[in-house]
Amino acid sequence: MTGTFIGIGVGPGDPELVTIKAAKALKTVDVICVPKSHAKKPSMALGMVKQILEERKKPAEILELVFPMSRDDLNNRKLWLESAAIVAAKAKKGNVAFITLGDPMLYSTFLYLYECVKETYPEIELEIIPGVTSVTAAAASCKLPLAEKEEVVTIMPSELNPTLIEKTAKYADNLVFMKCAHRIKEFIPTLLKAGFTDNSTVALVKRCTLPEEKVLVGKLCEVKSWDITEDYFSVAIVKKSQVPIHWKKMETV
Ligand SMILES: C[S@@+](CC[C@H](N)C(=O)[O-])C[C@H]1O[C@@H](n2cnc3c(N)ncnc32)[C@H](O)[C@@H]1O
Repeated sequence: MTGTFIGIGVGPGDPELVTIKAAKALKTVDVICVPKSHAKKPSMALGMVKQILEERKKPAEILELVFPMSRDDLNNRKLWLESAAIVAAKAKKGNVAFITLGDPMLYSTFLYLYECVKETYPEIELEIIPGVTSVTAAAASCKLPLAEKEEVVTIMPSELNPTLIEKTAKYADNLVFMKCAHRIKEFIPTLLKAGFTDNSTVALVKRCTLPEEKVLVGKLCEVKSWDITEDYFSVAIVKKSQVPIHWKKMETV
């Protein structure tokens, strides 16, 4: 009998944000795939589930899969297919998990491997265990609502070109920038063109829910004076309104 390939979201960083369902699966699967961007770099996701794995009676086999961050789609596809073959071989003997930061269905490395396994090995059962995303965790850390009532919230990667950011931002009340959101200063002119104002609210959350978490909240006109260091693990939330928006709404009642 072929095992199941399970994508497990382990949340944004705080081990207490790993769900009960994820913890249960991590205690029983035979193999745990750990994605890494570099062989020598430690895995953040593995660190987050360390305690859960220590509680296992029989240790799981840990399989490190290295996927360097690259825009070479052809080579990336080759790597995903090679990893899919490794997963398929392991799944012949048991259940295989793939741990990923946040949620597996949101900009996750898991998605590419998942597609390759689905396509190439249709006999393998697939399961996805959702996780707390960095988006919702960042909103909690900066205490800003992501959306209220009829508000539209748009999530986008920071490397999007300014024309696309502007077009998209025009129709949104709230924006979430992921992947290198420390670049927020560069987006100010684009956001102003898209209907955001100097008084729009901005939050930059780095390494949310981790001990080294940093949160900056202010108005769009203040962002240029923020001291921002580069950090891939950052999320920016930009709200057209000046927060707290529910207070503003109360004033107009
Ligand atoms: C490849 S995406 C993975 C997103 C993840 N699947 C999720 O659901 O949050 C990586 C991006 O997620 C965000 N991210 C993940 N963990 C984070 C954290 N602890 N603090 C801030 N941003 C984080 C950053 O924007 C980072 O560039």
